[in-house]
Amino acid sequence: MEFNDVVRSTPTCRYYKPDPVPVEVLSQVLDAARWAPSGGNRQPLRFIVVRDQAKKQQLQDLYLPIWDQYIAGIRQGSVRVGARPGIVDHADHFARHMAEIPVLLLVCARLADVHPTDHQLGRLSIVGGASVYPAVQNVLLAARDAGLGSALTTLHCAVEPALKPMFSIPEDISVAAMVSLGWPAQAFPARLTRRPLDEMVFGDTYGVALPGL
Ligand SMILES: Cc1cc2nc3c(=O)[nH]c(=O)nc-3n(C[C@H](O)[C@H](O)[C@H](O)COP(=O)(O)O)c2cc1C
Repeated sequence: MEFNDVVRSTPTCRYYKPDPVPVEVLSQVLDAARWAPSGGNRQPLRFIVVRDQAKKQQLQDLYLPIWDQYIAGIRQGSVRVGARPGIVDHADHFARHMAEIPVLLLVCARLADVHPTDHQLGRLSIVGGASVYPAVQNVLLAARDAGLGSALTTLHCAVEPALKPMFSIPEDISVAAMVSLGWPAQAFPARLTRRPLDEMVFGDTYGVALPGL
């Protein structure tokens, strides 16, 4: 696929066919993660490819209570979503059918290998994830290029202590995300819904338009 088509049409896929994903395709998709940048090239990422039905069910069972709490916040208006109409229903379907998705990828990271340069600012560190999520995005884009649907989710991170014994995750390894992978049950969108460029790009000073954009 053309690069521009891939980046503009990689949605969060919430409906999947049950067909298995061949390991050759998985290998191609996961290989894309290796080429992402990381601070000091320390490459903190590790992946667990979850295909075992019982383990996928455990992941769904852990996800659902957190999802239900999150969705209650959305419905009451205390959690904001800037997304397409119907997203909550689609995301709810995803949550309740998670175990049927062919592959649930647990993204893990060795925190000793990340260097959050903003951890002393007295606010939430954002740099902490910067050596992790570029590789995850490579996975999402490679999946799209291979014709696979994907969804990046992070709610499981809240139950890391429960996940660790389930997947024998070592003490020094943390859970950074889950990515579902499978053949999409619906056509990919031609283009995603996103904020216009001039609302997010400034020239020289924050809030000042970049001439000619
Ligand atoms: C950091 C992050 C966490 C997310 N967590 C969840 C999640 O827990 N559950 C879910 O259904 N979607 C999750 N999403 C998917 C977003 O809802 C999705 O990217 C957004 O609605 C845009 O959808 P689109 O790319 O299909 O336009 C997450 C996305 C990101 C980047």
